Amino acid sequence: MTRVTVENVWKVYGDQTVLENIHFETEPGSFIALVGPSGCGKSTFLRMMLGDEAPSKGRILIDGVALEDEPSPDRGVVFQRYSVFPHLTALQNVMLGLEFAQSPVMGRLFGRKRREARTASLEMLKSVGLAHAVNKYPSELSGGMQQRLAIAQALIKKPKILLLDEPFGALDPGIRNEVHEIMLRLWREEGMTIFMVTHDLSEAFKLGTRVIAFDRVRNRPEEQKAYGATITFDLKVDGKSAPPQPPVDATLAAAAQ
Ligand SMILES: Nc1ncnc2c1ncn2[C@@H]1O[C@H](COP(=O)(O)OP(=O)(O)O)[C@@H](O)[C@H]1O
Ligand SMILES: [Mg+2]
Repeated sequence: MTRVTVENVWKVYGDQTVLENIHFETEPGSFIALVGPSGCGKSTFLRMMLGDEAPSKGRILIDGVALEDEPSPDRGVVFQRYSVFPHLTALQNVMLGLEFAQSPVMGRLFGRKRREARTASLEMLKSVGLAHAVNKYPSELSGGMQQRLAIAQALIKKPKILLLDEPFGALDPGIRNEVHEIMLRLWREEGMTIFMVTHDLSEAFKLGTRVIAFDRVRNRPEEQKAYGATITFDLKVDGKSAPPQPPVDATLAAAAQ
């Protein structure tokens, strides 16, 4: 189970401070919802989590180890409009995720490995409710189905951390609820840590175990460049538990009785 430590992180582009002094630690299995006004640096923060961008100051640690400077299969990502490949079927899109993870140079698997990848991909498509659509192309899928395909493509690599950037924003309310339920189930089953950016506060509180808001505290025009957004509230959401922790060692349990 993964613990993320964000240590006094700043992000500055040129003379513009975007984020300042972002500092928090997550419990294993957290579902962190990130909210805040447009332009306050939420996507920038996710790009740093992904390893696409380095913090200007501070560091991000995963289980105590500083993040590498490049994306890794540890971290999966789903954007609002995810670019699943239009010329590949649903199954091929999901398999591609595994092929690149396991064979970064060739991007292809052969023989037994390929059969295993196919079985795992079919299983993952089934668990996001796309068993009937494995041979369909993205253009033949509805928005909700495309987004579930994007989720399957990210999850097939078994990321420890899933990064979601307004992933459900473009979906109709009914479909959005359906995808919420799938997301919550997968989060519980996989025991991963999720960071989800959303501008919908009710979605943040429905899905998150913790809601963190970024905002600018100093926002006068002359201050805008010098000061970035920071954490303005950080709330634990009651009544929602993280996935179960590994069982306590049997001898310890017996000794405690
Ligand atoms: N690569 C970049 N170079 C310069 N400025 C950037 C870059 N990426 C983001 N920004 C700026 O950082 C600020 C935050 O952007 P972003 O993280 O996309 O906000 P949000 O996702 O919260 O809407 C914006 O002012 C944006 O213009
Ligand atoms: Mg954004």
